[in-house]
Amino acid sequence: MGNVTVIGAQWGDEGKGKIVDWLASRADMVVRFQGGHNAGHTLVVEGKTYKLSLLPSGIVTGTPSVVGNGVVLDPWALKSEVERIRDQGVEVTPELLMVADNCPLILPIHRDLDALREDASGAGKIGTTRRGIGPAYEDKVGRRAIRVCDLADLGDLDPMLDRLCAHHDALRAGFNEPPVDRRRLKNDLAEIAGFVLPFARPVWREIDNARRNGKRILFEGAQGVLLDVDHGTYPFVTSSNTVAGTVASGSGTGPSAAGFVLGITKAYTTRVGSGPFPTEQDNDVGQTLGTRGREFGTVTGRKRRCGWFDAVLVRQAVAVGGVTGIALTKLDVLDTLDTVKVCTGYKLDGQDLDYLPAHAADQARVEPVFEEIKGWEASTEGARSWADLPARAIKYVRRIEELIRCPVALVSTSPERDDTILVRDPFAG
Ligand code: GDP
Ligand code: IMO
Ligand code: MG
Repeated sequence: MGNVTVIGAQWGDEGKGKIVDWLASRADMVVRFQGGHNAGHTLVVEGKTYKLSLLPSGIVTGTPSVVGNGVVLDPWALKSEVERIRDQGVEVTPELLMVADNCPLILPIHRDLDALREDASGAGKIGTTRRGIGPAYEDKVGRRAIRVCDLADLGDLDPMLDRLCAHHDALRAGFNEPPVDRRRLKNDLAEIAGFVLPFARPVWREIDNARRNGKRILFEGAQGVLLDVDHGTYPFVTSSNTVAGTVASGSGTGPSAAGFVLGITKAYTTRVGSGPFPTEQDNDVGQTLGTRGREFGTVTGRKRRCGWFDAVLVRQAVAVGGVTGIALTKLDVLDTLDTVKVCTGYKLDGQDLDYLPAHAADQARVEPVFEEIKGWEASTEGARSWADLPARAIKYVRRIEELIRCPVALVSTSPERDDTILVRDPFAG
């Protein structure tokens, strides 16, 4: 039995949380390896809903959960999420939650900068979650970050703050903002340190031990391949690599640890924030998908843009993301439609195109070529086996597999944990 890596194969919100939760009871450890609290993962267990942003989705099943070094961690957001989830009756102890001591922190100045930049960008704004994700990753790569381990000895902080503030004060001045209030920042960090430090440790050792002892690790991705900073719809992307390759650098293990890569894929397409979306349906169809699929952001409450399934994009995500098999989610949302469309290719300046070009202006101009499929107009909601699916729904799933060149391993038919069809066990490789 091997490891499993879950990644989003579209623009996020594909249902990763539900699937990770479903798989978590059979895993020995769940590891987040990138992103931060820009993620919003929803789990529904026996009618009870859990919304997680930073905590790995394994926490709800009591599976040991790790926040890897590839994540950017807002310690105040961590505290409020842990408190919220504890109030829902979930146990969160240092035995169950482990945070990488080399994880960079998101500070209030990162949140400030994210919002200042978005507000100043006019039509060029990215539509970020304004949680400071981008600025925190910039400081990590710029070697200015304060990390979890630094909270243990705040006496050593001054030279780091010199470097960090020299950079931020210059940026803030450009926005007519006062310099960083260093005293307040240090006080805030001193206050939160006591909450974070009991969870902090060299998690790479836990992962190494788990691997040496043949334990099953489930790596939980955030966002989706089309939001990957290299492979996504740049610049309308997040600031981390969301592909399966990030498992290794983002948690402190080798690339072979990723195991079976399960690409979570919605049976249609959604996106939050700005950027190109070739199959977007800004009409009644989009409205129906949004209403039936309850497409409102978990993190910001923003309405998600909705459109038809784009096989070109998912085929590309399968290739660059390293996907072994997909989990097709939200099939039930299409139940009432008499016709379902799938994008099989693009036209750009009269030419056929079977991939999304890199240039942002071209991405915005491609026109989708649709194939029409007769809808099944019957309920798939809550189906737990192939036998429960209408023949035309099965035909839709099979056509998607063919177009994206990747087999379906799971099908999800409602938000509930157990409303899931297992086609091929990802842990079996
Ligand atoms: P994530 O970010 O990939 O974890 O996805 P989100 O939790 O942000 O958004 C997915 C939404 O769809 C959540 O509200 C889930 O409860 C819900 N969901 C997941 N799978 C299904 C499904 O198969 N059918 C329906 N109707 N809803 C689903
Ligand atoms: P989950 O894990 C959907 C989008 C934002 C914005 C862009 C950049 O729930 O699938 P950022 O705050 O990361 O700098 O924003 O990325 N975005 C997501 N969209 N699901 C997510 O996470 C997202 N995380 C970021 O809307 O367009
Ligand atoms: Mg989400």
